[in-house]
Amino acid sequence: MKLTLNIWRQAEGADNGAIKTYQIDGISGDTSFLEMLDELNEQLTHQGEEPVAFDSDCREGICGMCGVVINGTAHGRGVSPVRTTTCQLHMRSFKDGDTITIEPWKTPVFPVIKDLVVDRSALDRVVQAGGFISVNTGAAPDAHSTPAPKRQADRAFDNATCIGCGACVAACPHSSAMLFTSAKITHLANLPQGQPERKLRVKNMVGQHDAEGFGHCTNIGECAAVCPKGIPLESINQLNRDLIASLFSGDGKE
Ligand code: SF4
Ligand code: FES
Repeated sequence: MKLTLNIWRQAEGADNGAIKTYQIDGISGDTSFLEMLDELNEQLTHQGEEPVAFDSDCREGICGMCGVVINGTAHGRGVSPVRTTTCQLHMRSFKDGDTITIEPWKTPVFPVIKDLVVDRSALDRVVQAGGFISVNTGAAPDAHSTPAPKRQADRAFDNATCIGCGACVAACPHSSAMLFTSAKITHLANLPQGQPERKLRVKNMVGQHDAEGFGHCTNIGECAAVCPKGIPLESINQLNRDLIASLFSGDGKE
């Protein structure tokens, strides 16, 4: 497969950055998108050029490190599954002769560090504000010692699959991180262990979300359309219900 790659290059955050065009040949459909970038970087290194900086770690769709905008879509679009992480996207989703435009997550809340690498630490600070439970750790308790109804356990698990990649923020026209925040809140709100701090958690996490400069949700749904883990918009309903309960019941104490 022969491809034309339009890639965002930015030496560091203070630079303006610009799209640069590269040609690459001999790419198999079984190559992953990041392996294709590895091959480009090998080519650039041999030519004495600076390789393209991009984030990755597990390359198995589980850590949330990777993430670029591919032809205008956060993480790109696969053939099967359509929604995937950048590292799980394979080149069989493209055709010989295609032009592919690759950009970083473009939102002021995730400033560019270099090329396709952005600073997503704002998401970490939202989790630090309340995405935890305060219990002593130790040996794992027996699963049946804290019973959870099946429906709630399933909702908690589905929301726990959020990998914190930030694609939802990159896709949102308001740079909102409501889908991410709601996944963390819905995960813990559906478990017995999450109840003691439930109201304070939502208040603190949404407060931190706003303090970081993430925008407000207007239910456009672009976030859920690109989420590689299928976190549903319904989770934002849970966040809003818990936030209202926290603000009006007096339990979300300072
Ligand atoms: S909600 Fe989805 S898109 Fe957003 S950070 Fe979590 S996994 Fe990524
Ligand atoms: S590199 Fe871990 S999810 Fe893509």
